Amino acid sequence: MRSSFLIVANRLAVDRTITEDGTASWRRSPGGLVTAIAPVMQRRDGAWLGWHGAPNEELKPFEHDGMNLIPVPLSANEVELYYEGFSNATLWPLYHDVVATPVYSRVLWDAYRAVNERFARAAADIAADNAVVWVQDYQLQLVPAMLRALRPDLRIGFFLHIPFPPAELFWQLPWRREILEGLLGADLVGFQRPGGASNFIRLCRRQLGLQNQRQEITYGDRTVRAEAFPISVDFGELDSLVREPHILARAKEIRSELGEPEHVLLGVDRLDYTKGIGQRLKAFGELIADRSVRPGEAVFVQIATPSRERVEEYRNLRDEIELRVGRINGQHGMLGVPPINYFHQSYGRDELAALYCAADVMVVTPLRDGMNLVAKEYVACRHDLRGALVLSEFAGAADELKHAYLVNPWDTDGLKRQMLAAMRATPHELSRRMRSMRRRVATYDVDRWAGDFLAALER
Ligand code: ADP
Ligand code: G6P
Repeated sequence: MRSSFLIVANRLAVDRTITEDGTASWRRSPGGLVTAIAPVMQRRDGAWLGWHGAPNEELKPFEHDGMNLIPVPLSANEVELYYEGFSNATLWPLYHDVVATPVYSRVLWDAYRAVNERFARAAADIAADNAVVWVQDYQLQLVPAMLRALRPDLRIGFFLHIPFPPAELFWQLPWRREILEGLLGADLVGFQRPGGASNFIRLCRRQLGLQNQRQEITYGDRTVRAEAFPISVDFGELDSLVREPHILARAKEIRSELGEPEHVLLGVDRLDYTKGIGQRLKAFGELIADRSVRPGEAVFVQIATPSRERVEEYRNLRDEIELRVGRINGQHGMLGVPPINYFHQSYGRDELAALYCAADVMVVTPLRDGMNLVAKEYVACRHDLRGALVLSEFAGAADELKHAYLVNPWDTDGLKRQMLAAMRATPHELSRRMRSMRRRVATYDVDRWAGDFLAALER
C-alpha cells in the first residue's frame, strides 16, 4: 500500500537480534532517534522505512507497537562499509568535533552512496502522490536529492539528529560537495541547534556559491530552508509512567539493593566515545580517592548500552572504560560496596524509568552531543522535584536546561565541584532548578518538535 506520510531512517524502531542458540527475537533499537520518532509514528498514520538491524535478511513489511514498519535489507558487506564504515567511522567522528579520527576511504563512500540509493528507491516506490517524506539523520544525507530526482512531486524534509560541524571541520571531507547537494534535495533541512543551521548555510555559500536570505537558500529554481528544531522526549508518557506504583516500588528496591547510600549517581548512555563516560568516572574516582565522599556514602551506577561493537574505536573504548571501573573498584571498594556499579546491558523502559527515579544525581557529560535525550528523560521523570542534573555544556540540551549543574567535561576539577554541589544541594535549591527544567521539557516535548517541523515543511 502507498503511504502519504513516510519516515525514512537507517534504523527501524526494533532490532532483530539473534541469540547464541540461533533464535531470533525483536528488541527496541538503541538511541535517541528511535526514542523520538516512535511516539510520532504511533500518533500518525504512515509508514517507517528502515533497516531491521540484521545482515543478509529480507523481511516483509510488518506491524509493531502501532507502527507500520518496512524493512530495507543490508548485506553483511554493506553493514561493514556503509553502516560501520562511512556512517560510524567517517561521519560520526567528523560531526562530533573529531573526538576520534575519521576514516576517509573511497570504498566506504561508494557503499554509502549505493545504500542511500536503495533507500531513495524504496521510498519512491511506496510514497503516494504528493506525499510527505521525512528523512532522518547522517546515514542518509544523499537520500533527499536522490529521491527528488525520482519523485519531484514529493515534499521532502530532512532532520539531522547529531551536530552539524563547523565549516573548518566539514571541509576535511573529500565528498563535502556531494553531501551538501544531497541535503539540498530537501525542502526543509532541520538541525538540533541554530549553530548547525548556520554552519550548513555558510558551507552552501562557500562550497557551492549559493545565496541565502536568512534561513532560506536559493538553489536553482527552488528554495531550501535550514532551521533548528531541538528534539525532545514524550514528557507526558514518562511523567505518567513514573507515577505508577510498580515503578516507585522498583526505584525503592534499587536503592536498597545498592545498600541505601546517601547519594546515588547515575549515567545512562550508549557505550560511545562522544559521551564522556571515562571523564565522569575519573572525576568520581578522584572524589572517592581524595575522601571528598566516602565509598558507601555515594554510589555511581553506570549503564553503558552495547553499541556499534564491531567498530574499532568502540571496542577500544569498552576496554578503556572497563579497565577504569576495575581500577577504581579494586582500589577503593569494600566487600559488597563497589563505588561503581557498571552494566554493559540494555534495559526496558520501566527499569530505566525506575533508575531515573532512584538517582539523586544524573550525570550527563558528553564531549559533543546533538541533543542528549537521557538528560530530558531524567527531567521528565522527576515530578517529585528532587534529583539534580549534571550536564555538559557540549550537549544540545544545555541550550534549554540552563538550570542544570553545567560542566565542561574536560575540566576534571570543575566536574568534581559540580558533582559535589549537586550532592550537597538543599531540597529547596533542587526543586527550584528542577521546576524550571520541567517547564521547558513539558512545553517543548516530542510532539511539539515533530509538529513544528512538519508545519514548517508543509508551509
Ligand atoms: P544517543 O541518541 O546518542 O544514543 P540520547 O541520549 O539522545 O543519545 O538517546 C539515548 C536513548 O537511548 C534514550 O532514549 C535512552 O533512554 C535510551 N537508552 C540508553 N541506554 C539504554 C539502555 N541500556 N537500555 C534501553 N534504552 C537505553
Ligand atoms: C544516535 C544516532 C541515530 C542512531 C542511534 C543509535 O542517536 O543519531 O541515528 O540510530 O544513535 O545508533 P545505531 O548505530 O545503533 O543505530
